[in-house]
Amino acid sequence: MRTFTKTYADTEVQQRALANHRWIARTNPDVRIPAVVQVRSIAIDFEHLDGRHGTADDLVRLADLLGHQHPTAHTRELHAARLDTPHTSGGVTIPDFAEGRRDRLHQLLASGAVPGPTLTHEAVEAWLKQAATMPAAFYKDANPRNFLITDAVVAVIDFDSLTLAPFGYDLAKLVVSTAMTTGPLPEDTIHRAVDAYNRHPRHHGLPGCSRHEFTAWCEFHHILTAPYLGTNSYQFSWHHVRPAWTTDILRHVDKEWTP
Ligand SMILES: Nc1ncnc2c1ncn2[C@@H]1O[C@H](COP(=O)(O)OP(=O)(O)OP(=O)(O)O)[C@@H](O)[C@H]1O
Ligand SMILES: [Mg+2]
Repeated sequence: MRTFTKTYADTEVQQRALANHRWIARTNPDVRIPAVVQVRSIAIDFEHLDGRHGTADDLVRLADLLGHQHPTAHTRELHAARLDTPHTSGGVTIPDFAEGRRDRLHQLLASGAVPGPTLTHEAVEAWLKQAATMPAAFYKDANPRNFLITDAVVAVIDFDSLTLAPFGYDLAKLVVSTAMTTGPLPEDTIHRAVDAYNRHPRHHGLPGCSRHEFTAWCEFHHILTAPYLGTNSYQFSWHHVRPAWTTDILRHVDKEWTP
């Protein structure tokens, strides 16, 4: 079998990727992922899959896939998870949403290195507090390079990162990282992507992700991904390409509402 070998920084990172792979295989059994062919000292040989990376034209199709993945994992397992508590099952512990993110968000905001942030430290805290009460889905870094697309199937790759997250959070990563790669996205495409995503949780009686939540999560990703501008094919900063309605929603609703 043709393989793709990924080498990790150390055994701990490699073991985490293996555990994350097992968890995705278990909670998303009908989603195409590469098989693990061989585990080496600090590398893993994965089954080689054909396909190309995601583009802006794939946004709705990829949003639809994420919308399928999250309620599937929720129904199978994450209904028992709280977003402010690490979730352990089947020998895998998935970090909670705020752990690791809270400090990084505050550090980056305080550094002044995030261009045009729309969230203050207080707003970040309020959203993290609000997230703790939301139904649990997961973040697996849905950047467009972590999908391999053919006409027939979309495969999901890269098991390095996995945390609990609210519904819509990884969708926001997909949208922000795609716009940072290819430039401004048609507004209609973003709305269709959110709708395609939400169709799935709502089918399961789950609330999905409101436009307000979606825009807040986009701003989280803006802060967290800003340091990677100029690498990973990220040529555009979100503050230059974000649609005006996203900032309007945050300014408008947040005036009357504390998340
Ligand atoms: N199983 C696989 N079959 C074929 N190609 C793969 C496979 N896994 C990864 N790749 C290719 O290698 C690239 C990098 O892999 P991966 O995303 O796991 O690593 P990464 O360190 O996150 O890199 P990047 O930051 O570029 O996403 C993928 O975008 C894809 O093009
Ligand atoms: Mg990757």
